[in-house]
Amino acid sequence: MKVLLGSDHAGFHLKEDLKKFIQSLGHEVEDYGIYTDEPFDYPDVAIRLAKDVAEGKGARGILICGTGVGMSIAANKVKGIRAALCHDVFSARASREHNNANILTMGERVIGKGLAREIVKVWLETEFQGERHARRLEKIERYERS
Ligand code: RB5
Repeated sequence: MKVLLGSDHAGFHLKEDLKKFIQSLGHEVEDYGIYTDEPFDYPDVAIRLAKDVAEGKGARGILICGTGVGMSIAANKVKGIRAALCHDVFSARASREHNNANILTMGERVIGKGLAREIVKVWLETEFQGERHARRLEKIERYERS
């Protein structure tokens, strides 16, 4: 699948590592930057990438900042985005099975590369379970449209 990947300065190094890792899993990666660890405002990349995920320019998005919090707040402002901040494998799997998360956010200042890679792998491989979970997401979408 096509994965859109982005970070701010605090997530730059983990973003670079994950880019190679995601490609090694056989996915296509589009890198939304940034490309250095010079200070950069996370909403600028989060909103740009989230809009593109919402418009279907990529199947999924992954955003890395210092904590993952700012990226999730910003991405979730975009209609159609279900961004999940996950720092453990259980939540990452559930965010796909139950919430059909289309963006994963993580914090480079919070977790190591090994765990981040495991989370990404599980998150990319796990399918949405639908049924009762779809009904709950429809309620969120209905609110979003109102
Ligand atoms: C940058 O210092 C930091 O605030 C940012 O990367 C992120 O953690 C915000 O939520």
